[in-house]
Amino acid sequence: MIRSIVRGVGCALPRRSMKNSEFEAIVDTSDEWITQRTGIRERRIADADETTASLGEAAARAALDNAGLTPADIDLIVLATSTPNNTFPATAVEIQERLGMRHGFAFDMQAVCSGFVYAVTTTDLYLRGGQAKRALVIGSETFSRILDWTDRGTCVLFGDGAGAVVLEASEGQGAIADRGILAASLRSDGVHKEKLFVDGGPSTTGTVGHLRMEGREVFKHAVAMITDVIEDVFRQAGITAEELDWFVPHQANRRIIDASAKKLGIAEEKVVVTVDRHGNTSAASVPLALTAAVTDGRIRKGDLVLLEAMGGGFTWGAVLLRW
Ligand code: ACO
Repeated sequence: MIRSIVRGVGCALPRRSMKNSEFEAIVDTSDEWITQRTGIRERRIADADETTASLGEAAARAALDNAGLTPADIDLIVLATSTPNNTFPATAVEIQERLGMRHGFAFDMQAVCSGFVYAVTTTDLYLRGGQAKRALVIGSETFSRILDWTDRGTCVLFGDGAGAVVLEASEGQGAIADRGILAASLRSDGVHKEKLFVDGGPSTTGTVGHLRMEGREVFKHAVAMITDVIEDVFRQAGITAEELDWFVPHQANRRIIDASAKKLGIAEEKVVVTVDRHGNTSAASVPLALTAAVTDGRIRKGDLVLLEAMGGGFTWGAVLLRW
């Protein structure tokens, strides 16, 4: 059977780093409050010349280099983002053009912070269905552009960045020992749509809008939802938490990450954390964390890796793969 294996990873971050202390001059907050409540110490903020497309392109090129491939080897680009360069065309198409690709097809996926997990799961279906052979799956965001910089409850939490993987259709045995994506579980429930949303859009206000969030409400649901989809992929694959090598969760808040790992019985040393450096980069957070753990040599060929995310909608999902 066909398995979608990861051939390469890469990321790109804006030049400018913003430390917690810099918020003290903008809103009524402190480095101590942000660090204690979220685990975030700094995040990157895009300058005017850095966009979702430019960061996504740079992450895609890094992933191609890491895989030893060129754009000519790719026939599908899926970009997870909620902060596209334009309402349309899809920013994925702009990245396709920037990469000099005139073949294949490209589209955006919008599932907010779960976007990358949704995009990986969707791409896996295209590869297993024979619609494509090699795909770039990118998460790229410039959330700084949709933040209300007077709202201390949200502006301190988010950052900008991009990460990408190259997925390739490869022959597997249909066994748990196969490399590639082994199981996935996606969920959404629109009843929660007003707990985390952007208050603008082309069909309503005609404006881009700003991010609004009931942080405590999101927090309340996060751990249970994350646990639900992870237990589902464990069931599908017939494995337990002890068999995992690495847990790469969405990087929204250190307390959510720790509580989820604890509830699932995943040992602390198996959890990849980058929220301290990147803040919440929405759809970019999982591929940014993945790239960090691959680049520093933690994730190696044959390791069992669990990806997870939860975000606006709510949407949530998990993917289990062997590296
Ligand atoms: N600095 C100082 N005080 C603050 C700040 C700040 N930056 N922000 C809020 N506060 C205050 C509040 O006003 C409140 O004050 P009050 O008691 O006088 O009313 C107090 O701190 C406590 O507020 P809570 O919201 O209860 O604080 P909590 O411990 O829940 O932490 C946080 C807030 C960090 C937002 C937390 O709720 C959280 O992480 N929620 C989940 C957020 C999340 O993960 N979002 C991303 C989802 S993914 C996506 O799709 C984008």
